[in-house]
Amino acid sequence: MSEVSNSQLPECVDVLIIGAGAAGLMCAATAGQRGRSVLVLDHANKVGKKILMSGGGRCNFTNLYTSAENFYSRNPHFCKSALARYSQWEFIALVEKYGIPYHEKTLGQLFCDNKSKDIVDLLLAECRAAKAQIRTRCSVSTIKAQAAGYQVKTSLGTVTCESLVVATGGLSIPTMGATGFGYEIARQFGLDLVPTRPALVPFTQHKRQLERQSTLPGSALEVSASCGEGSFLEQMLFTHRGVSGPAVLQASSHWSEGKEVVINLAPNHSLPDWLQQRRQQNPESHLHSVLAEIWSKKLVQYFLQRENLSSRPLKQFGDGELRDMGSKLQIWKLVPAGTEGYRTAEVTLGGVNTEQISSRTMECKTQAGLFFIGEVLDVTGWLGGFNFQWAWASGHAAGEVV
Ligand code: FDA
Repeated sequence: MSEVSNSQLPECVDVLIIGAGAAGLMCAATAGQRGRSVLVLDHANKVGKKILMSGGGRCNFTNLYTSAENFYSRNPHFCKSALARYSQWEFIALVEKYGIPYHEKTLGQLFCDNKSKDIVDLLLAECRAAKAQIRTRCSVSTIKAQAAGYQVKTSLGTVTCESLVVATGGLSIPTMGATGFGYEIARQFGLDLVPTRPALVPFTQHKRQLERQSTLPGSALEVSASCGEGSFLEQMLFTHRGVSGPAVLQASSHWSEGKEVVINLAPNHSLPDWLQQRRQQNPESHLHSVLAEIWSKKLVQYFLQRENLSSRPLKQFGDGELRDMGSKLQIWKLVPAGTEGYRTAEVTLGGVNTEQISSRTMECKTQAGLFFIGEVLDVTGWLGGFNFQWAWASGHAAGEVV
């Protein structure tokens, strides 16, 4: 029999987990392997939907260079204990145990060679070995704390449990089953929430700006995108709504309304110096053909037009003029109209305040037997496999004690 079924619920289990995503399934497997009876409930029609759609269908399941510096949280130390006890190396060993082929794409990001489903199958196999039961299409209506444990009423019946684990994730991509239910549970038990907002999300631009950029959607280039304290050297992509790509997604985690994003369009060159060098080497070269050495023709045309510059041989530019032009072309100060919001955001910043949670066990300090794991907590990773590593690590930490 499959470990996922819609049959009636057991009346009583040791551990009840709400949310069959990355963190919930890891927690179920870990607790079940300790001999605890485990039930995982999810309101969606199948488990691990975000895993399936992640990494462009190839799931960027961890990052070789994971460390606490790759996470945002009001308490930057909170994630350290769980990440140290279940590191990227533990998850990589699990992936290898199942013979799942993978590769490093860039910057330590590990992706499946084949498909994300390999990771869901791995988690389901671990849950099966741990005899953890899973029910999909099951919604929770009420949760009551009892003298010891919890009573949970659901659309498939009532269950009591000793430990209740909230693994309902963040608010991004509601069409995939994301809800704020975990935050409601936190509020019910008097826990504080760090305000949430979409992160790792494309920026939108105003209509007039988009009209000017109408030839650019689909064009990509390497940039350094900086916002506040964050600065990221990766690709940027022009879209029909604004800009996206890894550098921009990363910068979005530092952005709030009205803030400026500084984009260095040629991060590997100092354009003022480089243009002077090119003029010395080849004074007859036209500005546009020199710039085409670093940008596509479409981009060159657009950047020149944006700065009201016309192309002519480099020898016709004076020193000061060439320097000013280089500086203007190099830096684009963008004030986005907004972001695409939770509709396309990869993650949610903020969530359950970690002040009230044990960093070793993920148990609520003020409510015995209640645990929060994964993205529902105020721990958000950078782009690049860090968010899954947090789901594995926090799920494992709770799984060892529930
Ligand atoms: P997750 O969202 O995985 O699971 C929560 C579960 O709870 C879901 O199954 C949901 O249906 C269920 N649920 C919600 N409300 C409920 C309710 N009221 N009742 C019952 N069940 C409920 N990260 C990364 O490291 N590498 C990557 O490649 C990507 N790629 C990526 C692509 C896209 C498009 C998105 C949206 C996100 C990513 N991420 C990512 C982020 C990553 O998917 C995310 O951080 C983890 O899935 C979080 O794991 P959780 O288990 O906490 O939540």
